[in-house]
Amino acid sequence: MYLPSFLALSALVSLAISTPSSSLHSRATCTVTSQGFEGLDDAPLINNAIKDCSAAGTIVLPQSYSIRSPLDLGPCQRCEIQLEGTLLISDDWAFWNNKEAYISVNGSRGLALRSVTGNGVIDGHAKGWYQRSRPYDTSLGNPYYKRDAYFDQPVLIPILGSEDIQISNILLKNAPREFFRVDAMSKGITLTDLTLLVEGHWYQDTWTRTETTAFQLRNSSSIRLNNITVDFRSSDNSAAVGSCVALDWGLSDVAINDISCSTTYWGIVIQMGGLDIRKCLPPSPVSSQVSRDILISNYTANSAWNLGFMNYDRETNATVINLTYEDLNFVGGGYLQNFLYSGCEDVWQNYTENYYNIWFKRFRGNLGDAAYACFHHDCLGYWKKGHVDFHFEDVPP
Ligand SMILES: *[C@@H]1O[C@H](CO)[C@@H](O)[C@H](O)[C@H]1NC(C)=O
Ligand SMILES: *[C@@H]1O[C@H](CO)[C@@H](O)[C@H](O)[C@H]1NC(C)=O
Ligand SMILES: *[C@@H]1O[C@H](CO)[C@@H](O)[C@H](O)[C@H]1NC(C)=O
Ligand SMILES: *[C@@H]1O[C@H](CO)[C@@H](O)[C@H](O)[C@H]1NC(C)=O
Ligand SMILES: *[C@@H]1O[C@H](CO)[C@@H](O)[C@H](O)[C@H]1NC(C)=O
Ligand SMILES: *[C@@H]1O[C@H](CO)[C@@H](O)[C@H](O)[C@H]1NC(C)=O
Ligand SMILES: *[C@@H]1O[C@H](CO)[C@@H](O)[C@H](O)[C@H]1NC(C)=O
Repeated sequence: MYLPSFLALSALVSLAISTPSSSLHSRATCTVTSQGFEGLDDAPLINNAIKDCSAAGTIVLPQSYSIRSPLDLGPCQRCEIQLEGTLLISDDWAFWNNKEAYISVNGSRGLALRSVTGNGVIDGHAKGWYQRSRPYDTSLGNPYYKRDAYFDQPVLIPILGSEDIQISNILLKNAPREFFRVDAMSKGITLTDLTLLVEGHWYQDTWTRTETTAFQLRNSSSIRLNNITVDFRSSDNSAAVGSCVALDWGLSDVAINDISCSTTYWGIVIQMGGLDIRKCLPPSPVSSQVSRDILISNYTANSAWNLGFMNYDRETNATVINLTYEDLNFVGGGYLQNFLYSGCEDVWQNYTENYYNIWFKRFRGNLGDAAYACFHHDCLGYWKKGHVDFHFEDVPP
């Protein structure tokens, strides 16, 4: 049950008598009361509250809620959701498989999702999913884990075709597969003061240990990530798992500042075509993939591979223009050698990557056994074609 309250509205209406009508805003408040049992789905109650308070209203979630069907924040237009309790996603992976989202932000304009008290938690509940058994295949020579029936879990919070979205001051835990995806020409997306935690992730195989991604950005502009802690832990604490920030094609004006990635397998990397290849889809139809104007600053890096470039798409012409990595503090791990790789087929030829105006500035800490030769010598290497225009400033030799 939720309790719409129009107190704020009536107060403003009486105020409006003496003020110009342009200052009249109906700030309705909808507070949702949880049914209080994990077996009962609170998602429809929250979805109704969002519809009732969608126009410039406030939805308050002070309790613990059981989420057994998708939440739809899309109708929220210029409204605010205050999450002060916990959204606990159900671990019914068969139900969720192939759904579009756990928490959908599709076509929203002006949504703020935040915790005022700092107690807001979104719990993806995926420890069991991380540890599920996967079918095993040795037919390809190397031991290899195949996709299983629960592989296609949706993204926890996909932000699609949306504008002016702010998500802040929330702890997000154990999302199956992916925490945030920004895609489909979203713009003005600000994600701040967030902690993303993964516990007990499987690590035993190259393919499956990268199953979980913190942020995947594609085909969108004006994106800000600020004060972000990504803390991914495997079931063996010495193994790095998942991806921190994957930058795909079609990006412009992206600024990532004050971020810590630990201990992810990939840190903040260009991963052209990464989103499609995760599902082993055919190469993207986008034949010219360009991302530009990206600044990554004050990055505390502790991943197996902290930065670098990958193009997963066969026979595409990937281009990155005006990318800067600055003020990197390397805690552990290494650089990523320019690396062209398809996770689905062993085709290593005919990839093209072009890099224009790429800067590396002020690197500190334990640079490890960096693939530094890549930056100074032959970055394109043996299989590859393209253009490299890298610049260095205050980066140890
Ligand atoms: C997002 O909304 C658009 C327009 O309503 C719709 O066509 C699309 O299927 C939705 N995408 C997802 C992933 O739900
Ligand atoms: C970017 O997203 C929009 C909206 O979903 C889509 O229409 C467009 O095709 C995408 N761009 C490319 C190059 O695929
Ligand atoms: C950074 O975000 C965390 C929550 O993840 C918050 O506790 C902290 O106050 C934020 N720091 C600043 C400087 O805002
Ligand atoms: C840089 O990042 C570190 C660690 O995330 C943080 O403590 C510090 O406040 C940040 N500094 C700036 C200037 O953002
Ligand atoms: C390069 O990108 C930065 C943002 O990271 C932007 O401020 C700057 O104007 C861009 N430079 C050019 C030449 O486009
Ligand atoms: C690839 O893209 C670059 C830069 O966008 C362009 O100069 C080059 O002509 C393209 N090459 C092909 C084969 O399309
Ligand atoms: C790469 O391109 C060449 C020439 O276009 C072609 O002959 C060759 O078969 C391609 N290789 C692969 C692995 O697709």
